Amino acid sequence: MTVTANTPILVGTVDVPEGFVTATIDGVVVSVPKGTLIIRAAELLGVAVPRFCDHPLLTAVANCRMCLIEIEGMPKPQPSCATPLGEGMVVKTQLTSEIADAAQQGVMEFLLINHPLDCPICDKGGECPLQNQAMSNGRAESRFAGTKRTFPKPINISAQILLDRERCVSCARCTRFADEIAGEPFIALLERGSHQQVGTADDQPFDSYFSGNTIQICPVGALTSARYRFRSRPFDLVSVPTVCEHCASGCSLRTDSRRSTIMRRLAWDEPEVNEEWNCDKGRFAFPYISEGRLTHPLVRGDDGELRTASWPEALDVAARGLAAARGRAAVLTGGRLTREDAYAYAKFARVVLATDDIDFRARPHSDEEADFLASQVAGTGRGVTYSDVEKAPTVLLVGFEPEEESPIIFLRLRKAVRRGQLSVHTVSPFLTDGSSRLAATLIQSAPGGEASALDTIARGELGTALRAPGAVILVGERLAESAGSLSAAVRLAQATGASLAWVPRRAGERGALDSGLLAGLLPGGRLLVDASARLEVAAAWGLDVTELPSLVGRSGNDIIRLISDDQRAIAAAPDEPIGHTFGALVLAGVSADDHSDPHAFLSAVEAAPFVVSLETRHTSISALVDVVFPVATVAEKAGSFTDWEGRVRDFNRVLHEVGIQNDGRVLAMIADQMDLNFGRGDVVSLRKELDSLGQGTGIRRHAPEFAPAQTPAVDQDHAILATWRHLLDAGTLQEGEPYLAATARTAVVRISAVKAAALQISDGDDVVVSTDHGSVSLPAQITELPDDVVWLPTNSFGSHVRETLHADAGDVVAVSRGGEHA
Ligand code: SF4
Ligand code: FES
Repeated sequence: MTVTANTPILVGTVDVPEGFVTATIDGVVVSVPKGTLIIRAAELLGVAVPRFCDHPLLTAVANCRMCLIEIEGMPKPQPSCATPLGEGMVVKTQLTSEIADAAQQGVMEFLLINHPLDCPICDKGGECPLQNQAMSNGRAESRFAGTKRTFPKPINISAQILLDRERCVSCARCTRFADEIAGEPFIALLERGSHQQVGTADDQPFDSYFSGNTIQICPVGALTSARYRFRSRPFDLVSVPTVCEHCASGCSLRTDSRRSTIMRRLAWDEPEVNEEWNCDKGRFAFPYISEGRLTHPLVRGDDGELRTASWPEALDVAARGLAAARGRAAVLTGGRLTREDAYAYAKFARVVLATDDIDFRARPHSDEEADFLASQVAGTGRGVTYSDVEKAPTVLLVGFEPEEESPIIFLRLRKAVRRGQLSVHTVSPFLTDGSSRLAATLIQSAPGGEASALDTIARGELGTALRAPGAVILVGERLAESAGSLSAAVRLAQATGASLAWVPRRAGERGALDSGLLAGLLPGGRLLVDASARLEVAAAWGLDVTELPSLVGRSGNDIIRLISDDQRAIAAAPDEPIGHTFGALVLAGVSADDHSDPHAFLSAVEAAPFVVSLETRHTSISALVDVVFPVATVAEKAGSFTDWEGRVRDFNRVLHEVGIQNDGRVLAMIADQMDLNFGRGDVVSLRKELDSLGQGTGIRRHAPEFAPAQTPAVDQDHAILATWRHLLDAGTLQEGEPYLAATARTAVVRISAVKAAALQISDGDDVVVSTDHGSVSLPAQITELPDDVVWLPTNSFGSHVRETLHADAGDVVAVSRGGEHA
């Protein structure tokens, strides 16, 4: 068993349960579960044995010998990190044994022979286990008078990670992490003796999505990041517990700031969620918080130009524009919203704008998905958890790449696979590198073919495996683009009894859904059309139930389409009295690139009669709207996200900038200006209201029933496009971090060997993928794909699929060899 802070320990003479061993440590009789390492048992007693290589989540290697202790009857001191406590053992640590103390001091002296005394300029100085343990378990003076080993320094083992080899104590924490946890043995201990050093293969940098964890667990300053190196001293930092805003994994982080500037972010210990790890996006992608920020409201002047405005003026213009469109306004939000702010928009739309035309899905979506989310996910609370995934005998992934879309799910799956207790299956066009590190079995499917793949699974061997208790099906948000697949996933789960979980990509999506940011859904998964749900919500909002919108609103796709239709109709008959379906749009955290057709989205925003945008930074959208309000980023407000499990993850405010407001406060000020009662809109009151609404009654849980679409037939020069995002890509929240961007996966066109041969394309040749709107040209990577499919990353450098091709997964694209394309 794994010993954690909650592991039972019995001290003194008590009845010892079966499976425990009883021994003595430093004169105290203890009973611990059999197999408990001495170093852990001592920890549980409050005794800290010094250590470097030991890490509770890595295998024991006993490399550094710092944790030597005395065991009565054994001839030599033993490493406590690799020796389980045995029945009747008498253990003495450095606290009670001169032998253990002398052994530890000797090891420390050896380590310091080659370790530079550069603490004043080392990033780790002030939080360094070597520095601390040299003080607590070393000698006051060195007897070494020779020349210390030196290396040219630092060397880049990736664009982000720097290595100062002379500081390394060869504990192998980093190499074990890369091999065991991430499954990417890109770094290894090379050479021997005093020449031993961490190294990479010549042509293979340490470009792992998880590389930053090695910096954090390095017990000395041998590994540092380009982002933080020499930027601050640990004792100058103010640390705040936070939660990552980048994906729905829900990682606990610690954010360190100095003088109102974020200096770094670390993974924080959350055994039930991210354990002690996070991904490099969560760790390094924070410069966007301080760069390119909107600081003042903007209002479009009579000359058509946006100009800086005072808050009262901007509130007045926004209030007048929205009041004129009351009942005919729509609200579109993105994935950055906290639970509290999402709830504020859900309430603002219904109470202030009197509309149910609202959608948080700033990405490709469908009516089937809305039905699936309303019936299977919204208001269901915590469902499948990380722990369920870890214990599952079988996990089926459908339209979901864990390493790219939810990296902590990936790590948890890997942990279970390494233990040999889990088999992973993936419905995907090809076996990705991440899936192969999960030893996953591929159930190959072209985009659009997922529904029939799932129906086939239900009848086969895997269907039987999914009947085993604890089996899990994880579906990704990409399935919204594959007609019938979410319906088929629910059918499969019902037929097999497997648990089904939806894993969105962004941190704010699950919270937005549960807060009622979707047409037809009120907070807590309540249906707008349900009489009892309407009564509950109207009472909480201080409304008469008749004041709540009664018509189910339209989806984001339909809202954009209707605005574009109006625009075309008006352009075609300028003298006809054609009214606008929507009088106003409210946008929050929406990026045009997130939509299947960014150009159509931008032109709809331009065509809408009146647009208010609440944004943290300037975007392509803010230039087109009538009023822009600056709002707080996650670092400037408290709040919470709901992770993919349905677990609410609270976080605190890091930066205390004066005058920057959360979205809810700005909405409250607009409502005040309109003389409508919205409430205060601050984080505390929003959270209180949302929590008091809780889960709804009268929620209908039916299975969505949508039919699959026909997969298109293609000729030799065309293919069906498969696409999804890389974790590290050209996303706006990764702006300003060039070292991180340099570790992103290279964009390629994946193409089958048969298709490549037919088009006379070899591995590495340029391939052109095109539509009527544009083309993307990238090197080919021959991959075991269906012959009628090509794959591109959705939004990587050199591959902006939506913006350039106006296409998405399942669309037909032309494919040709580079140089031949007209
Ligand atoms: Fe953030 Fe997701 Fe990375 Fe965790 S895994 S650090 S939540 S982006
Ligand atoms: Fe035990 Fe390194 S901590 S040998």
